[in-house]
Parts: sequence; C-alpha cells; structure tokens
Amino acid sequence: MRLNSPKINLIIKACQKASKALIRDFGEIENLQVSTKAPGDFVTSADKRTEKIIIDELQKAHPDYGIITEEAGHINKSNTQNRWIIDPIDGTINFLNGIPQFAISIAFEENNEVICGVIFNPITNEMFLAEKGNGAFLNNSRIRVSNKKKMSDSLIVTGGPKYVSNIKDKIFSEYINVSKKVSNVRKFGSAALDMAYVACGRFDGYWQRELNYWDIAAGIILIKEAGGFVNFFDEDKINSVKKNIIASNSDIHEEFARLINKKDIE
Ligand code: IPD
Ligand code: CA
Ligand code: CA
Repeated sequence: MRLNSPKINLIIKACQKASKALIRDFGEIENLQVSTKAPGDFVTSADKRTEKIIIDELQKAHPDYGIITEEAGHINKSNTQNRWIIDPIDGTINFLNGIPQFAISIAFEENNEVICGVIFNPITNEMFLAEKGNGAFLNNSRIRVSNKKKMSDSLIVTGGPKYVSNIKDKIFSEYINVSKKVSNVRKFGSAALDMAYVACGRFDGYWQRELNYWDIAAGIILIKEAGGFVNFFDEDKINSVKKNIIASNSDIHEEFARLINKKDIE
C-alpha cells in the first residue's frame, strides 16, 4: 500500500495538471514535422508552458520555497532549506521527434538532501515516485532495483555526449570500455527515465557525464529508495553544476565503479 505525504501529493497534482497541455503538444508534433514551422520554437514554448503550470501549482502551496528549474533558473534563491528541483520536459529531443520517451521530473530537497521525487511519463502514464524511508513505486506497485550479480549479465543505460561537449572522446572511450564488459548498452535520451528504469529493474545500471542537477534529482531518491546505489565521480570544482553520475543495484555497483574509474579511460 502506497501512503503519500502531502509533498508527494502536491507534486502529483502539479504533474497531472501540466501533463494535459504536454499531451496535447505531443499530439501536435506529427503535424509540425510536416509543416515549415521551426519545431525547436514549438518545443521551447511547450517546455516553458509546462514549467509555468508546475511552478504555479507548487507556489500556490508554498510561495516562499526555493526553486531550481531548467528554464526559469533560481526562484527564492536564498531558501536552500526547502527547495523544488524541476525539469519540465526531460528528453526534449525525443519529444521533438515524436518519440514517447520523455518525462516531467520534480524533486523536493530539505537542507540540500533530496527527500522525495516524481518522474512522470504522461504518454505511457507511468508515474515513478519515491520518498525517503517509504520506498519507491511505479504507479501503485512497489519497485526494486534488479538483482543481477555480474556486469557481464547487465543491461546498462547511458547518454551523451551532447553536441557542445568538450570531452566527447573521453565519453566515447568510456562507452567502448563499458560495452566490452556488459551484456549491452542502451541510449534512450531521457536521464530521468533512465534512472527510473534502473529503480524498477528494467536497466541494471546507469552512468553519464555532464548532467544538470534537474536531470537527475528525482532519480536519485528513486534509485536509493528502490535499494540501489548512486554516486558522483570526477566532480568538477569549477563548474559544479555539472554532475557525473553512476547508479546501479548494490551487487554490481563496485565492479561498475571500477570500470568507470579505470585509468585507461582518462
Ligand atoms: C537531456 C536528457 C538526455 C541527457 C542530456 C540532458 P533535456 O535533458 O536528459 O538524456 O543525455 O544530458 O540534457 O535537455 O531533454 O531536458
Ligand atoms: Ca528539459
Ligand atoms: Ca533534462
């Protein structure tokens, strides 16, 4: 039985409200692909509209809470005690191409620790949610990370590099390294859903460099509450907003981390 706190219920309400417009927008994509209008502008406005609906809903309940979002940046910056972390559409390239692999991702932090999070794919109607100490759920069913024992049996997911990345070669060599040791590697194009899929055991592990905090904040609590491990590596002291993450079930975590930290991928 899932028992939701008022915070989770508020996030769910915001997701459901925002997803109505998002589903409509997604339906428009097919028309757009055969029109001459720039699809990029369309996605930007869908992103902004979704974000506004979410912010309005959350602020109605807690006007003073801090917010970090992809589009609007920081709101109530000085409030780090209570803060929402929002990515209105994670997986924009999929969205833009009519691929239903994208999600709304919302997390809530208390004193810099994520304590609950929701990742919602409005097209498949899959809602992943987790709260510190209360486990992780997919809709109404409890979820757990996979029970694979070896990297050689594992299905791993990753993402990147972005077009603008300065470390493409490093990312590609890491990809080659991991690919040689695991059953297979996937790239699905939504960091939030990649993490949600690790939390429910569809993937056994996930790693990626150069992420933004809003891509992964809700995923962190989901994987932890589903019994998995999450770590950050090669932290960039100068550009501290970018995160490099590795996450998996507890059995393969050490082997996975050793593989990522191998000197020959530097
Ligand atoms: C992106 C997705 C993608 C990841 C990129 C992110 P966006 O977020 O999570 O999977 O590889 O690094 O920027 O732009 O679709 O919100
Ligand atoms: Ca986004
Ligand atoms: Ca994102």
